[in-house]
Formats: sequence, structure tokens, C-alpha cells
Amino acid sequence: MDRLVVNGGARLEGRLTASGSKNAVLPLMAAALLTDEPVVLHRVPALRDVTTMGLILKQLGVELQAEDGTLVLQAASTESLRDEPREASYDLVSTMRASVCVLGPLVARVGQARVSLPGGCVLGVRPVDMHMKGLNALGARIEVDGGYLVSDVGRRLQGSRLFLGSTFGSSVLATANVLMAATLAEGTTRITSAAMEPEIVQLVTLLQSMGARITGIGGPELLVEGVERLSGTEMTTQGDRIEAGTFLIGAAMTRGDVTIDGVDPSHLAAVTDTLGQAGAEVTCGDDWIRVQADRRLESTDVTTLPYPGFPTDLQAQHMTAMAVARGLSVITERIFPDRFMHVAELLRLGADIRKEGNQAIVSGCERLSGAPVMASDLRASAALVLAGLVAEGQTEVRRVYHIDRGYERIDARMAALGAEIRREKQPHLDPQRPDW
Ligand code: EPU
Repeated sequence: MDRLVVNGGARLEGRLTASGSKNAVLPLMAAALLTDEPVVLHRVPALRDVTTMGLILKQLGVELQAEDGTLVLQAASTESLRDEPREASYDLVSTMRASVCVLGPLVARVGQARVSLPGGCVLGVRPVDMHMKGLNALGARIEVDGGYLVSDVGRRLQGSRLFLGSTFGSSVLATANVLMAATLAEGTTRITSAAMEPEIVQLVTLLQSMGARITGIGGPELLVEGVERLSGTEMTTQGDRIEAGTFLIGAAMTRGDVTIDGVDPSHLAAVTDTLGQAGAEVTCGDDWIRVQADRRLESTDVTTLPYPGFPTDLQAQHMTAMAVARGLSVITERIFPDRFMHVAELLRLGADIRKEGNQAIVSGCERLSGAPVMASDLRASAALVLAGLVAEGQTEVRRVYHIDRGYERIDARMAALGAEIRREKQPHLDPQRPDW
């Protein structure tokens, strides 16, 4: 198992191009199930989650070829998928919840599907009821059997009117799932309270280029007129706004100066606005963002919200910045009320944070001190790396396999900006050969 060792004190400085977006590319890959023609994706990030999605699609009869960030996916013919039913196995699905978005395209194209239920997640319960509600409204008749979501409707789905909202707002992947299913349904589907995240906008664009008829792109109501078949297509994945946001927050908290190219500034407006309020200087072009800071940040409250609000995927990183800012800040988590696993680890570094329900009250301190900490999920791990940059001495972030799910070579990219960071193998106890 690897760990990242960070020596604190360096400021981040320089220029980087954002990787392709993890959360955009995963549903784009799933969309390949909607056609037997090739779907070609460029700027595909080299991430563990992308590999996992590839393996799941392979189980479902998709052939994949990858070279230099380009991925060609070609699903089997509808007949062969019907004759030889396949399943997305628990072994793979349990490692990545996003895999549930193969369900909609499969049912829509093949009329049957067997996809494992993902199970528990460190961010909280994370049910899939909205996915089921939406797909059932289209006539998918999904049942849970032996830990699997099973559908055997055996005919075309039917367009419908459906509401996909919840107390948390909309669901990104439920919107993706239902949207993909609706493209091949008979008749018109109206999705109200659809997610408006840029990843959904990119999915709509891909589906349109495959021949889907969708209006309302980027808004809360999507109208889908089902078609009988879709064709192959080619698309470049947009820049990863969360990866970019992580580096930009890192720049602000290390009093650095970082420019990220290849990312749409409007995708990060809530984040750059927050950084500005905290005292950093932000400048943007058409596809780049620069963040500079020359003094300690000021405390800034944040509430996570669906897009265009402040993203939950940058909450942990913002909290780390606030842990060393001047004053008291309140961070409210509205998307995943339990997403606070990083708090206990930040306390190990000397941060002053009190958690109350879905809020964290952060009292900024002058300094953190390096220590070994444990990564609990992808974004929390990135936040701990940021903490290591400003902590005195050495911080060791363990279980970095979490970070490799969603950040491409974070150690090399941070080092390119001046961070003192290295990856090491973490020694493990072998009970067969105790080393005492
Ligand atoms: N929810 C339900 N029922 C459902 C689906 C969602 O109650 O059937 C709830 C969730 O528990 C949560 C809220 O609705 O409280 C919103 O969750 P959403 O469904 O939008 O999350 P997701 O689609 O499963 C994607 C990202 C997450 C990101 C969230 C929120 C991907 C692959 N994942 O998940 O990204 O945090 O949207 O923006 O796109 C990450 O990249 O680290 C990550 C966790």
C-alpha cells in the first residue's frame, strides 16, 4: 500500500493543465452501452475509477481500447446482449458507486439488466432510490434480488413525466441514468428537477451527438424525445473542475500563485468567489484560472449545494484552508450530511474544528503540525495532502489508493508546482513472516 509523504512549507507556484474530468467521463463511458457503434473519448484521465468502469463495461460486453488518453468503446450487438445476459458484478460495483449508471442504458437498449447494488459508502448511506424511481417511471420494473438490481422488462421503455428532486436537491447520477434510458424510450420524457452539473451538460452534449433528441440542456427540466437507435460518436472530456479547484485552494492557502489551464472558469464560479472573499486574487480567461495570495486567508463560510453552488467535492479542501485562516468559519454540508471523516484527521494535525450535525465550526490556527493521517475517501485525502503543504514538519497520508481513484498522479503534479511530496510504499505486517 502506498503513502504520500509531504514536507510542509513550500508554496505552490506554476501552471498546470487540468486532467479530463472523472465525474464527466464515467457516465460518458456508460453511454457507450446505448449503441453498437464505437464511442471515442479523448482526454480520458488515467484513474482507478476509469479502470473500474472499463472493467464493468467489459463484463457487459463492451470492447475497449485505450491509447494516450483516448478510449474507444464498442458495445456488443443488441441481439448478442439479449441472447447472452451479463451482469455488473458486486466485486466491481461495490468499489465504485458511479457504476450504477450502467443500469439505465442497459435496460433501455437490451430490455434487461442485472447490476449489483453498490452497498455502503464512507460518505453516508447513499441510497439508489431516485435511480429506481426514475427508471421505474419509464417502465423498467426494477426489483432487488440477491443484492442485485434486476430488470427484465423485455420491451422498449415508455416516455414519462417524472420528478427527480429530493430534500438534498437533485441527484447527478440518477439524472444521468434516467436521461440515458429516456433517449431510447418510446415517446417523450420530461425530467423535472434534473441535476444541472457541468457533467450532466457534457453527457447531454454526447447523447445529442449520438442522435438523441434532448432540449433544456443545463437547466432543471430536460425534455427527451425517444429515438429508436443511437449512433457512435467522438468527444473530448471537459477539464476536471474538482481537481482544478483542489490545486487552486492549495495555491491560496500556501500564499502561492497557480494557473490552471483547460478548465471552464464558470464551472468553478462559487469556488473562485469564495477564494476572493477569503482574500486571494483570482483572474480568469476563457479556459484558465489563476489564483494568487500573498497573505493569510480570512475565514469564509461555505454551504455545499448542487451546481452552481459550492461543490461538496471541495468541502474538505476548503475546510483545510479555513483551518489555517484568520478567524472562525462555519462549513455546512447539505449534500452528504455525514461527509466529515476528514475532521478527525485534521484534528491530528492540530486543527481546531468542532462538528455539530451537518456543520463544522472551524477556528483558524496559526500553524498545523505534521503527523501521520489516514485517507478516508477521495476528496478527504486530497484535503489531507493540502494540510501537509502548510503543516510544520512531515505529514504522511496513508491509504492513498483513495486519492488514485480520482486524481491523476497527484504527487507528480503537486511536485511540479513546487510541493515537497513523494510516494512511498507503506511497509505492512505479514502475519506469515512476523518481523520481530
Ligand atoms: N441520493 C438519494 N437517493 C438516490 C441518489 C442520491 O437520496 O437515489 C442523495 C445522496 O445520498 C446525496 C444526494 O442525493 O445526499 C446527492 O447525491 P448525488 O446522487 O447527486 O451523488 P452522485 O450522483 O452519486 C456525484 C459525484 C460525487 C459528488 C455528487 C454530488 C460522480 C461519479 N460522483 O455522485 O462525486 O459528490 O455527485 O455532487 O459523478 C467524488 O468525485 O468524490 C464524488 C463523491
